[in-house]
Amino acid sequence: MAIHDVPKFGLLPLTAHDIADLRSDHAGEAGAVMIYAGILAISRDPEVRQFAREHQETERRHLAFFDAWLPAARRSKLLPVWKSAGWILGAFAALWGKKSVFRTIAAVETFVDRHYAEQIDSMQARPGLEDLVEVLRRFRDDELHHRDDAAERANDDRGGLWPRIIGAGSVVGVSIARRI
Ligand SMILES: [Fe+2]
Ligand SMILES: [Fe+2]
Repeated sequence: MAIHDVPKFGLLPLTAHDIADLRSDHAGEAGAVMIYAGILAISRDPEVRQFAREHQETERRHLAFFDAWLPAARRSKLLPVWKSAGWILGAFAALWGKKSVFRTIAAVETFVDRHYAEQIDSMQARPGLEDLVEVLRRFRDDELHHRDDAAERANDDRGGLWPRIIGAGSVVGVSIARRI
């Protein structure tokens, strides 16, 4: 199954709840591309730059799917906000050095993993959504890889205030992007 095999948005039996989730996915992927742009704007560390370029490539693919598939009317009206927030988060993390970048990405992806997992859970048993669920599963696997790659490089227990701030900020961002 390729990504372009997913039936057109209007042909799928999506609920208002699903559509809100998909709007937040698109917003999140747009933000994710910019997190790495923010990192790359600041960091001169070769390991960080390599890491950011590789992850950004994946996020670009995720975003390209939603850009091509999600109708304009269903997108968040606040895309410039999500992109700016992503860039600022990435740049801010990079100002504090390598470990801060890895801890930030590990925290973001921990959130994104749960976000995709919930949608997969709620959609997977519903007829007609198989191809979409398959794409979300694939994206989730990529995010898990990002999370583990970042956590391994950060090499700490992922505790502390910063990951909790990111988790809380992500919850707020998603709840706004689901609506607007
Ligand atoms: Fe992504
Ligand atoms: Fe990711």
